[in-house]
Amino acid sequence: MPTKESRPKAAGESAIVIDFGSQYSWLIARRIRECGVYSEVVAHNTPWEKIESLNPRGFILSGGPASVYEPDAPHAPMYVYEKGLPVLGICYGMQTMAYQLGGKVAKAEKHEYGLAMLYKNQVDSPLFAGLPDAIPVWMSHGDRIVEMPEGFSSIAYTENSPIAAMSNNQKMIGIQFHPEVVHTPQGKEILSNFLLKICDFKGTWTPESFIDHQLASIKQAVGDGHVICALSGGVDSTVVATLLQKAIGDQLTAIYVNNGLLRRDEVERTIKIMRKNLQINGSYVDATERFLDQLKGITDPEQKRHIIGNEFIKVFEEEASKIGKVDFLAQGTLYPDVIESTATVSRTSATIKTHHNVGGLPEKMKLKLIEPLRYLFKDEVRQVGTALGLPEEMVWRQPFPGPGLAIRIIGDVTKDRLEMLRSADWIVMNEIKKAGLYRQLWQSFAVLTPLKSVGVMGDYRTYKYVVAIRAVTSQDAMTADWARLPYDLLARISNRIVNEVEGVNRVVYDISSKPPATIEWE
Ligand code: XMP
Repeated sequence: MPTKESRPKAAGESAIVIDFGSQYSWLIARRIRECGVYSEVVAHNTPWEKIESLNPRGFILSGGPASVYEPDAPHAPMYVYEKGLPVLGICYGMQTMAYQLGGKVAKAEKHEYGLAMLYKNQVDSPLFAGLPDAIPVWMSHGDRIVEMPEGFSSIAYTENSPIAAMSNNQKMIGIQFHPEVVHTPQGKEILSNFLLKICDFKGTWTPESFIDHQLASIKQAVGDGHVICALSGGVDSTVVATLLQKAIGDQLTAIYVNNGLLRRDEVERTIKIMRKNLQINGSYVDATERFLDQLKGITDPEQKRHIIGNEFIKVFEEEASKIGKVDFLAQGTLYPDVIESTATVSRTSATIKTHHNVGGLPEKMKLKLIEPLRYLFKDEVRQVGTALGLPEEMVWRQPFPGPGLAIRIIGDVTKDRLEMLRSADWIVMNEIKKAGLYRQLWQSFAVLTPLKSVGVMGDYRTYKYVVAIRAVTSQDAMTADWARLPYDLLARISNRIVNEVEGVNRVVYDISSKPPATIEWE
């Protein structure tokens, strides 16, 4: 577990999101941080002692699927109402606030779902400062407030909700709509008004303040110990290594393992960027043969993942043992992983696939963990990377899975197939970059299927592989949509792959979203 000090509370104050199981809880925290205010999501039953060190200056109660009058409905801890701090209840959060403070909530005659016009009442609420009298908002609720608690009055209404927003003199506010989603265009202003005008936050949480705080807390946590980290060439591990290098210099050793499952030129590019930009103490291990030997004949994707994960641990351990005494392992865990594992109501219950990062290492090697990005979202990691002076090419690199191309080859992983996939993937990446779309896409890549089909080239019959192209837009990989790539671009990619990649005669484009599909094919 990370130490409390590793939390990036650089501004010394935070807005706490109390989670009632809404899929939007993390999005609320994200929007709050966009306002320059540090925010964390905690389960609805979190005791005060656990969050006190974050210096809360306001609470946000999230939405959620429950109804307040159900016997097991989750409610906010009483300190939320007793600390004298501002509270903003959103949707279910508003309903539980009303219920807990003595109001009445009932099933609405009509569910209100989708866009609605919100009209301000004749009161001067700072929540709506600078906004017009009527604004579009996103509603998604089946219950509504029928009687407000004592001291509250309605500050806005919609056609179906006479109490679409309410407040009292103690800076407690409830809103029935969702300000965090893009469908409420002025949502960010509303959140910002709550944070800056009602909670009096200064809005000073920035990538720079995060870095300052992290450098100090890493120094303090590490003392004169030694840290190792795995470099993958991706933005997360590079930002981690850079932060550590800046904080503790030679007390860090970064290990870069080439598992033979990387993309074309990847090793060379990564090493170049490392050398040029970072004076990191590091070692590079080419373990290609070991990994490919272990993967021989393996077609089951989970088995591939386990083999790669275990082999990685072995190689990493061997390399680490050459360093001497090591005390800490630094990892690039991000906030969405933390939210997933600490959520009140688990959003993903089944193991869909076993992710391979450096899991398993800390227990085995008896190392303490350092996770400087544990409270950041991916886009914040990119901002921190930029503020650290990392090159654009590195900061905006699309995510790449730990098990690499092994999970983009359906079936047996062989050197020939790897080469085929590398060539196809190279074309996809270059064409996407040339079209100026690389940054807008969460990921774009090629997949080698085990399927062969008949084709005709020149006057000859061919019987060759099908390559699939996957390109998705996403915020955090939890959900994703297939990218509407221009037909001309798809045509160019297809043409080039069939002409330039030996062994392929057909290219298809994946038009599935996540869910129900996933981003990777395996
Ligand atoms: P899926 O395919 O589950 O992937 O929609 C979601 C995101 O996770 C990446 N991914 C991985 N990342 N280790 C990683 O570090 C892994 O084992 C792994 N498997 C999938 C995937 O590329 C996508 O961004």
